[in-house]
Order: sequence, then structure tokens, then C-alpha cells
Amino acid sequence: MQDEQNSALDTVKDKKISRRGLFSFAGAFLLAVAGCASYKYFSSTSTIHVESCVTAGSGIMKNILILTGSSRHNGNSFLLAEAFKQGAVKAGHTVNTFHSGMTPMSACLHCDSCWTDGKPCVVADSFDTFYPLLEQADMLVFCSPLYWYNFSGHIKCAMDRMYPYFRENRLRDLKVKEAMLLMCGESMFPRSFAGAAEAYRQMLGLNHWKDRGRLFVTGVHEFGDIKGHKALSVAEQMGCDA
Ligand SMILES: Cc1cc2nc3c(=O)[nH]c(=O)nc-3n(C[C@H](O)[C@H](O)[C@H](O)COP(=O)(O)O)c2cc1C
Repeated sequence: MQDEQNSALDTVKDKKISRRGLFSFAGAFLLAVAGCASYKYFSSTSTIHVESCVTAGSGIMKNILILTGSSRHNGNSFLLAEAFKQGAVKAGHTVNTFHSGMTPMSACLHCDSCWTDGKPCVVADSFDTFYPLLEQADMLVFCSPLYWYNFSGHIKCAMDRMYPYFRENRLRDLKVKEAMLLMCGESMFPRSFAGAAEAYRQMLGLNHWKDRGRLFVTGVHEFGDIKGHKALSVAEQMGCDA
């Protein structure tokens, strides 16, 4: 009799446990669905936000090198760079663009063989196209999509390969005196760019480059998201004011 009662109690307990388990599962499922939905909401319907600042230029015509960081031809940062270039050319500056994401470049190997064959770097790749442009430039414009809260890997490789110009016993110096930073990303929060902005700030300090402006565009992800947006006219104006 006691055994029968125990077994009946177990069955009731099992039912309770399985009902509780069912509720937990349903709850977790609903939370996951809500989480996905709100992520999709935030990432796909965010408004584009532009944060920019520009400092006064000297009015002297200069040689500007735009270093882009995306593989996407006509992508968001590509269009930012184009808009900037349009403004800078209109203002009379000489502008070159190097697309680091479209011409694969190795990372710096830190082999310390810089200048040993008379060239800044012994690694033969698209750096050979990049460095003559770099050596002519008075001003550098970094234009990158945000990748993992930082510069894209493509542009980072090109930046790292500038190492020969910053080490001892170099054969040549760069003429660069000024820099600008243009970035875009999917995030709707300007603070997502803080890591890259801080790296840029430190780079300016180390090289005694004057900061000529920064532009951060949030909420752009798909191809063409940035098309028709005021971010492009802000970038163009930054080019005019360069
Ligand atoms: C590998 C990778 C990492 C990314 N990381 C971020 C990120 O950390 N934050 C963000 O807001 N967007 C991120 N994105 C989205 C891009 O910044 C966004 O799509 C940007 O508009 C792409 O610019 P593009 O068209 O010039 O390539 C990432 C995209 C890729 C491919």
C-alpha cells in the first residue's frame, strides 16, 4: 500500500517536474525569440547617426592619400572615401587613394629587414604600390569600416607596413603632417568606435600629426546603406576643408 502511494507520488512529482521543465523551455525559447527580434530591430532599423569634427586647415594645397580598408567596391566606406575625394579635388588638392582591402597586403613580419635592399620593406606585395603614394603624401586619411570595434584587418596591415618609416636607421622620412579618420559601422552607438578613435589619437601623438577631423557613421551595414545620406555630404565638405 505504502509502495503504491510512493509510486503514485513519484508519478505526480514527475508530472510536476516535466511541466516545470516544459515551462522553463518555453520561457527560454520565448526569451531567445524576443532577443533575436530586438537584435534584428536594432541592427536593421537603426537610424544613421553622424558624428564629425573638423579643425581648420592652412589653405595650402597638399597631396592627400586616402587609405581605405574595405574589400567592397562601392561599399559604405568606399563611398565615404569617394565623397571626401570629390570635395578635396574640388578644393584643388592632389588626391590619391589606396584600397588596402582590394589589393592584398601581408601583415608586417617584424623581420627587421627594412631598408636592407634600399626599399622600405623586403616583402614584395601591394606595399610596392602603396609606399610611393605614402612618400608623396602631406596628409593621410584613414577610411575604414568598423570590424570588431576597431580598424579592419586590411587597413591595419597597411598601417603596420608603415613601420620602416618609424624605426631607427631609416633611409627616408614621411612628409605627413596631418591626418583624418573616416569610419562607418553597423552599430547604432557612436561609442562602438571608441577603440579605433583612441588608436588613431595615440598614432597622432606619436607621429606629431595634426588631427584634421574625424567622422563616424553609425547604422550602415548593407551595400548602399549610406547612399543619399548626409554622411556623404559631410565627408565631401571635410574634403573641401582639407
Ligand atoms: C568582420 C566584420 C566585423 C564587423 N564588426 C563590426 C563591429 O564590431 N561593429 C559594427 O558596428 N559593425 C561591424 N561590422 C559591420 C561593418 O562595419 C559594416 O557593414 C560597414 O558598413 C561595412 O562597410 P563597407 O561597406 O565599407 O565594407 C563588421 C563587419 C565585418 C565583415
